[in-house]
Amino acid sequence: MLVIEDLSRRFGQKSAVERVSLTIERGSFVGVIGRSGAGKSTLLRLLNRLVDPSAGRVVYDGVDITHLRGKALRDWRARCAMIFQQFNLVGRLDVMTNVLMGRLSQTPGHRSLLKLWSAEDKAMALSALEQFDMAGFAAQRTEQLSGGQQQRVAIARALVQQPDIILADEPIASLDPRNTKLVMDALAKINRDYGITVLCNLHSLDLARAYCNRLVGMSAGRVVFDGGPLDLNDDVSRELYGLEAGDVVEGERVEENRFNTPAVYAA
Ligand SMILES: Nc1ncnc2c1ncn2[C@@H]1O[C@H](COP(=O)(O)OP(=O)(O)O)[C@@H](O)[C@H]1O
Ligand SMILES: [Mg+2]
Repeated sequence: MLVIEDLSRRFGQKSAVERVSLTIERGSFVGVIGRSGAGKSTLLRLLNRLVDPSAGRVVYDGVDITHLRGKALRDWRARCAMIFQQFNLVGRLDVMTNVLMGRLSQTPGHRSLLKLWSAEDKAMALSALEQFDMAGFAAQRTEQLSGGQQQRVAIARALVQQPDIILADEPIASLDPRNTKLVMDALAKINRDYGITVLCNLHSLDLARAYCNRLVGMSAGRVVFDGGPLDLNDDVSRELYGLEAGDVVEGERVEENRFNTPAVYAA
């Protein structure tokens, strides 16, 4: 269980995350929603300590992770794999090697330097790629793959890391609808088949509703909504995004279907 207690992060005068308290149950699939600048990315980065808090703490299975250093911090980061909008793969390396990078934290230094991966690691990497229909690409240079394929490689890399938690920061923001579904399905599979807790920042409310069993809505660094997908009514959505169809933002009309993404997204 992951317990976030009164967590805040300021950047100068700006409060990016403001007194957030949440308890995340093991095995849940939590969507963090809210408009750009709401503090979603900062919240995820606080959890794996890419960013340190200004106040408050994060406790995982009784251990305060906010002050971990050295090996303990590296171990914690291995337990919560991060997935980024821009994939963060090494483009000039082949797919298999990128996935094997997920094994680094469990590989002795000299062997990882020489890329002497064990047969077990290789089998695990190939199996992870198979899970997401990517085994056929194992020998290809990663930069030759489409965005959706690269994100599935990134998810395979996260999986071989054998994390307790996956933190996904707008993993589908640069993908087309078909790849969006493939990538969200991959996250759902990891959550369902391996019981890995998933925290996923999403811009689309419809995706959040379709895939998550709990939604946390943020606005100006604070949690303004916390509930199930069915609790997210129009009033809450309006509060979260502060606009409605027909509103005029910076001279541009908000599209009527802003929150109505195509049916292809439905799980
Ligand atoms: N490293 C940083 N330095 C200064 N300000 C930051 C930094 N990271 C985030 N912020 C600010 O904190 C606020 C929340 O940002 P972010 O967590 O990226 O929101 P979101 O992911 O919801 O778009 C924004 O106003 C952003 O400009
Ligand atoms: Mg963000």
